[in-house]
Amino acid sequence: MKDRILELLLSTDGYLSGEAISKRFGVTRAAVWKWMDQLRREDGVELESHPRQGYKLKERPDLLLPALIREKGLGRFFEAIDHLSIVDSTNNYLKRLAREGVAEVRVAVAEEQNGGKGRLGRGWVSTRGKGVFVSILLRPQLPPALAGNITMMAALAGAKAVGNLGFDAKIKWPNDIVVEGKKICGILTEMSANMDTMEWAVLGMGFNVNQVKEDWPEDLLDKASSLRMLGDGKKVERTALLAALLTEMDGLYAKLEAGAFGEILEEYRKYSATLGKRVRVIDSKGEYTADAVDLDEEGALVVRTLEGEVHKVLAADVSVRGLMGYV
Ligand code: BTN
Repeated sequence: MKDRILELLLSTDGYLSGEAISKRFGVTRAAVWKWMDQLRREDGVELESHPRQGYKLKERPDLLLPALIREKGLGRFFEAIDHLSIVDSTNNYLKRLAREGVAEVRVAVAEEQNGGKGRLGRGWVSTRGKGVFVSILLRPQLPPALAGNITMMAALAGAKAVGNLGFDAKIKWPNDIVVEGKKICGILTEMSANMDTMEWAVLGMGFNVNQVKEDWPEDLLDKASSLRMLGDGKKVERTALLAALLTEMDGLYAKLEAGAFGEILEEYRKYSATLGKRVRVIDSKGEYTADAVDLDEEGALVVRTLEGEVHKVLAADVSVRGLMGYV
C-alpha cells in the first residue's frame, strides 16, 4: 500500500489531501497518516505536509523504491520487490523467505546493510544510499553443480546493465564486474539443494554506484571504485541501474531455464576481461602462470600454461589474477 501511495504522490503535481488518499484506497485518515509516517521514517522519503492541503513530495527521492524502479521496466523481475531501508544482508533476508517457501522471482533491495557479505567469508561495505545492494530469489530446475552458471548469467546481466548507463563494463572471470580495471560489482550466490536439483538459489549483487573517496575504508581505496568516481563525478541514477539489471536478467534467466547456457556464454565471452590475458592461477596445489584462452561449455576457464599444457579451471577452486593488477 505504501508503494501505491508513493506512486500516487509521484504522479501528482502539488498537494494531495489526506481525504483524497483515504477515499482512493478506501481506508481511514488515521491509516493514511500511519503510512505517511512510515514513508518518512522507514523509507526516508521527504514529505511536506500541510494541515489543510495534505501531502507533497519535497523532491523525487533518491531511493530504490519499487514504484520508482517500476517506472523504468516491466517483467517478472519487477513484480515482487521488497525495499528495505536497513537489513543485515539482502541475501540473508531472502534466504529466510526461501526457507518459508516463498516463490521465485522475489527481489530484495536495501539502502544499507549492516552485515553485508562478500565471497570467501569477507564482508561487503554497504554504505547507506550509495550502492545497489540487491538479491534475487530463484528456484531454477538445475543440478546443483551448475550453480556457477547462475552467477555467470548474473555477471553478464550486470555488465550489460552497467553498459546501458554508458560505461565500458567487462567481466573478470568468473563473476566480478569491472570498469577500467576496477571492481564495481561483486556477486555472491548461495543455494540449497538436494542430490540432483536446486531447491533455491539466492543471487546477491553489490554495485558500487555513488560512493566517493571518503566512503571507503583506507585499506580498500586502491581496489574499490564506484561508477560515480569512474564517470564524470556526477551521481548515477541507482533506480536506472537496477531497472536495467532486472530487465537484462529476465531475458538471460529465461535462456538459462531453457537450457541455453551456451547462448549466455557466447555473449559473456564478448564482455570478458580475462580471455586473451596472461593470468596467475592459484589453486589448492599452488600457483602458476598461464594464458586464458577460452571458456568451456560449462563456463570453466581454459588456460594454457607456459609449458604448453592445457588446464581447465573451475571457479570454485581457484583465484585468477592478472599479472598487472586486478584484472
Ligand atoms: C564479492 O565478494 O565479490 C561478492 C559481494 C556480494 C555483495 C552483495 S550486496 C547484496 C548481497 N547481500 C550481501 O550480503 N551480499 C550480496
